[in-house]
Amino acid sequence: MSKRYYITTPIYYVNDKPHIGHAYTTIAGDILARYYKSQGAEVFYLTGTDEHGSKVAESADQANMSPQEFVDQQAELYKQAWSNLNIEYDYFVRTTDQRHKQSVKKFMGVLHEKKAVYEGQYEGLYCTGCEKFLTEKELVDGLCPYHKKPPQKITEKNYFFKLKDYLNKVKKLIESDKIAIRPINQKNETLGLYKQGLEDFSVSREKVKWGIPLPFDKKQNVYVWVDALQNYISAVGYGDNQEEFKKWWEEAEVIHLMARDILKFHAIFWPAMLLAAGVAIPEREFIHGFFSINGQKMSKSLGNIIDPNELVNEFGIDATRYLLLSQFPFGADGNIELKRFTEKYNSDLANGLGNLVARTLNMIEKFSDGKIPAIVKCSRDFGPVNKFIEELAFDKALKEIWSQIDWANTQIDQQKPWELHKAGEKDKLNKLLSELASLLCEIAKAITPFMPQTGQKLLGLISVDRIKKGEPLFARR
Ligand code: MSP
Repeated sequence: MSKRYYITTPIYYVNDKPHIGHAYTTIAGDILARYYKSQGAEVFYLTGTDEHGSKVAESADQANMSPQEFVDQQAELYKQAWSNLNIEYDYFVRTTDQRHKQSVKKFMGVLHEKKAVYEGQYEGLYCTGCEKFLTEKELVDGLCPYHKKPPQKITEKNYFFKLKDYLNKVKKLIESDKIAIRPINQKNETLGLYKQGLEDFSVSREKVKWGIPLPFDKKQNVYVWVDALQNYISAVGYGDNQEEFKKWWEEAEVIHLMARDILKFHAIFWPAMLLAAGVAIPEREFIHGFFSINGQKMSKSLGNIIDPNELVNEFGIDATRYLLLSQFPFGADGNIELKRFTEKYNSDLANGLGNLVARTLNMIEKFSDGKIPAIVKCSRDFGPVNKFIEELAFDKALKEIWSQIDWANTQIDQQKPWELHKAGEKDKLNKLLSELASLLCEIAKAITPFMPQTGQKLLGLISVDRIKKGEPLFARR
């Protein structure tokens, strides 16, 4: 049986518009999915939207819309952005889907039957921005450190999940890499959370009206995070299609992608809930860093959000994908500077790849009558590129490919084919041209998961009987 992968992104809150933070994770998943498909694996790639909870209900209120109207409108923005970025997902899950709601009810019922939840009184500090309870220790000057707002004091009846019963098991799974958390700094970060103390958490809310009713106490709605995490199983048939569920959850390698802001929910709470319900756990979790913009947190209130659609308008689809993914190591935080986008576009795409393609095709047309002088070999794997992609070290994979592009451009500068042509050195010239054509073919294949249209276009340019130089791949900015 060929390998099977089930790749997921977080489901994004619909109170926000998609920005480049969301785009980064979604492009990363798309690259991984396209890469595995190109290796002959079966892949299911999931993304979607998180549509319940007080934050979304408040935003709907502010927009003077019913929550359902509001979430319908907002979910479209995500679909539109992903289409603009050429994201090839297999399914878009929404937590307001009937199928998801049914699945959540089923799972919550199982937790209840297995006595993994208990009733309690909650008194705590709730940050609506985070949609979670904060401890006094987490506050900075009495404010939520992320949203810079005071949390609300809340006292209500809740059901709690017996996290403590599963903490040791989850820890062992993480330590042994049965749940492989990568990059390794994020695995250490997760294990570090154990030292801070981890408390049972509530799985329901009494006063939040926009949510899924708890099947065993209809006065309560499922806590938005507990609802949201279940998207990963509802989308592949938990509680409604055993065959599909087996295929994609139990038998595939499950890979969750996200940024470090939601590590605790995914690396600890989620596996614990699955263990409690007797459901299989995910195999891998890849955690990337957090972007800031010119040194500041990206936020609506600061007005510094970068819209991926605008980048696509400015640079095109593939260049946007390249520029976002090539800048930082996956696990590290990064500071985005917009002016670097233009610089990098010009140096790597217009001058680097674009120029190599233009020069090579031009020379084949001019010195070889449009015919590649020898058979093109296009089988070589690009050194460690595959390994880097599998480790989600996208910046390294791209650097490796670009080092070949730079090498080829240097070969042209040094060997000066136009002089070889003048001097009648046919063998040397032909050897160089066929090497360059082979390299272009290999580059086309290697960049396809990252830049699908460019990869295909390039393959098309060199697969014809008579090669002609065409429009530049990337016009200078
Ligand atoms: N709805 C929850 C996730 C539930 S998943 C079961 C949520 N949504 S979110 O809209 O806030 O999205 C968070 C995710 O968006 C991050 O984990 C990351 O994938 C991406 N990013 C959002 N802002 C980001 C940055 N500034 N930088 C990098 N990625 C960021 O949390």
